[in-house]
Amino acid sequence: MERSGSKDGGLRGGLSVLLVGGEKVQMDQAREALSALSEPRVDVAEAAPAQAAAPGTNADVVMVLCGADEEAALGCLRGQSERTPRPALFALLSEQSQALMRRVLRAGADEMLFLPLVRGDLVRALLKVSEAHRRSERRTGGMIFSVASMGGGAGVTTLCANLGLALLRGGGVRVALVDLDLQQGGLGNLFGADPERGILGLARLGRKPDSISLEAALTKHASGLYVLGAPVRIEDSEEVSDTTVSGLLDLLRQLFDHVVIDCGAHVDENSVAAWERSQELFYVLEQSVVAAHRAVRFLEFFRRLGIDGIEPRLVLNRYQPKHPIAEAQIVSMLGSPVYARIPRDEQVMEKSAATAQTASQVAPNSALVRAYEKLARRLSASQEVTAKAETRPGLGFVTRLLGSLGARA
Ligand SMILES: Nc1ncnc2c1ncn2[C@@H]1O[C@H](COP(=O)(O)OP(=O)(O)OP(=O)(O)O)[C@@H](O)[C@H]1O
Ligand SMILES: [Mg+2]
Repeated sequence: MERSGSKDGGLRGGLSVLLVGGEKVQMDQAREALSALSEPRVDVAEAAPAQAAAPGTNADVVMVLCGADEEAALGCLRGQSERTPRPALFALLSEQSQALMRRVLRAGADEMLFLPLVRGDLVRALLKVSEAHRRSERRTGGMIFSVASMGGGAGVTTLCANLGLALLRGGGVRVALVDLDLQQGGLGNLFGADPERGILGLARLGRKPDSISLEAALTKHASGLYVLGAPVRIEDSEEVSDTTVSGLLDLLRQLFDHVVIDCGAHVDENSVAAWERSQELFYVLEQSVVAAHRAVRFLEFFRRLGIDGIEPRLVLNRYQPKHPIAEAQIVSMLGSPVYARIPRDEQVMEKSAATAQTASQVAPNSALVRAYEKLARRLSASQEVTAKAETRPGLGFVTRLLGSLGARA
């Protein structure tokens, strides 16, 4: 079997494709079309129909060229459709014959593409597969929501805190907040995170954290939220690397239904490691031209990062419907819709800060609190939390950890 490699050699988030067929000209064209793709990234191997089911040939996508030997191609499709795990099956057809289309579909093909392969068709079909993979991969644990902004003061920390609380009020879920705004530490402070605990202890472990070390790092807040605070000393934040963040998030998502991360107002390896593991990334901005320009820069940068399967979603904070900078103006500048609007409410915010109570305690029926709840409901509804719970480690492990955290709080 020959392997012709992906374009950039890196296959993170990419697809492995097995191209099956005998006709040289058509195989050459298909291979060329595949290796010219930059999105999604593909790693292409080739096999003759008889070899395609050999052990060790587990590809994400099997493309079967239906040429002169139609029976061999149909047999290959049938054989592949019975494999576990079952790859996505594409039939590559050289003629638009209805009878042949029916036969390949009956043999198990999920997609039919016509030769010579057209780039747009190929990208569409492969993106469908890579998106399905992304969803199922990320469904193997809790959901991670990252929140970021450029410039500072946009309301990132406030959104993290109130979103976490609103998710918790949905009931029956465990929610953790992570303060990755390491130099500011605002989220941890807001919830009174224990200065003896926090992410620094995990960074100093020198290995992936386990449930015991995580327990030692988290603070349980009276609301029921678990909070992972930033280092107390600004200079110590340098010790926290993307390796710490990756290991930590991989464990947190096994133990919590929702993890909300305050990524602050800057970009570094830690935020990228968080975004790579996030189901959603919220970019917070206000109704101002300066904020919109910063958001454009961020969205362009994010695109260049090339993280598969996640697009930043815009959250308009301090939203005022009659503001001179209308939402439509922001949308047209950014070329991206607004996902959520959080109204401006100085009064509730000030009262909440003055009394050290949450906005939902101060004004449970305010438009502000309802906006956080609406966002939380939308996020909860978009994922089947119950399905994920089945893929977590044994209940004993989770219960033991959370029990010990609860006992300590
Ligand atoms: N929707 C809102 N209405 C009114 N005030 C708000 C709203 N959201 C946030 N604020 C206020 O804006 C201030 C800044 O918010 P916050 O600390 O969350 O911003 P940030 O983006 O985390 O800032 P930093 O870059 O300093 O970390 C706070 O005083 C907060 O109470
Ligand atoms: Mg902040």
